[in-house]
Amino acid sequence: MRFIPAESLVEGMIVGKSLYDKNHNLLLSEGSVVHSSYVEKILKLGYQGVYIDDEVSKDIVVKDVINDEIRMKMIQTVKDVCIYANGSNSNTKETKEKIDKGLDITKKLIGNIVEELLMNKDTMVNLIDLKFFDDYTYFHSVNVAVLSIVMGVGIGLSKEDLFNLGLGAILHDMGKIFVDKDVINKPSKLTPEEYEYVKKHSEFGYKYLKETYQIPTAAYVGVLQHHEKYDGTGYPSNASRDSISLIGRIICIADVYDALISNRPYRAPLLPSEAMEYIMANGGLMFDVNLTRVFARKVAPFPVGTYVQLSNGYKGIVSENYEDACMRPQVKIIMDPEGKRIMPRFIELKDDKSLRSVTVSAINNI
Ligand SMILES: [Fe+2]
Repeated sequence: MRFIPAESLVEGMIVGKSLYDKNHNLLLSEGSVVHSSYVEKILKLGYQGVYIDDEVSKDIVVKDVINDEIRMKMIQTVKDVCIYANGSNSNTKETKEKIDKGLDITKKLIGNIVEELLMNKDTMVNLIDLKFFDDYTYFHSVNVAVLSIVMGVGIGLSKEDLFNLGLGAILHDMGKIFVDKDVINKPSKLTPEEYEYVKKHSEFGYKYLKETYQIPTAAYVGVLQHHEKYDGTGYPSNASRDSISLIGRIICIADVYDALISNRPYRAPLLPSEAMEYIMANGGLMFDVNLTRVFARKVAPFPVGTYVQLSNGYKGIVSENYEDACMRPQVKIIMDPEGKRIMPRFIELKDDKSLRSVTVSAINNI
């Protein structure tokens, strides 16, 4: 399986990983054939691209940290909770019961992911963004939860702490439901006043969760602090270093990374490797440097399935990543420096001494 940017999709390609429409129904199911009518739809929805299966990538396995079914269930549950909490009947007993039920399902799903990741401690995240514009916040919340739990596993947190971390992470932006939608969805730059107003969402979310529902303290403190920065330049309290809770410091990194790799109506996404550079460059400044190191071990800057160019001019598809050498993946080479297809072969940038000077220099569209 490999990832193809939406603009490079061609009729007849076979879908490797299902895509969903606005209502979370299947748009393209795994194994189906791409028709030209779908390409426009995919671009319009905001998808960056599609995983496809073809001859050259049939031996490349893209492992997801959580399966599609759980991911879509989590997205839908968070969306339901937010919609109920934001509705005109949000204070009725009936709505509160619905939100309670949604939060119970969320807690259960977070618990399952924690169990799963604790059993697979070596898991690296190969995250290529597959969000669509409309439900950005909910897709983003699930990604932030997964990235946060993976980091938490990386630093050896207990099961209980991982649960609180995951819960805080998935609810981190819930306060946005109390901010005017027109401001949240404004496609252009916010005015200074609007920005100050949007910044209130972390306090709104914290207060709402604290006062209304049975949520562990550590989780809602994480919600409050997810925009605090290690160097004290964040909000709402300009807290710095250890005065920001560990959960807050973790969610902050996951939140920024996933936002950077996301396709937004007003800006193009960064490549995972570019977003990783941003996180690493801010270690000790905006972010806790020890946590950025863990992040770089657990999240692949060149995710499995992406098409890359090496500094020696050869091109290929990333086929494996290694926790101890995230910039030196295994690559299935398929094209020579002149652009001619060659007999595919796997190279190990990590171990092959003859390739020490070769680096992954770019990710190209096919
Ligand atoms: Fe936020």
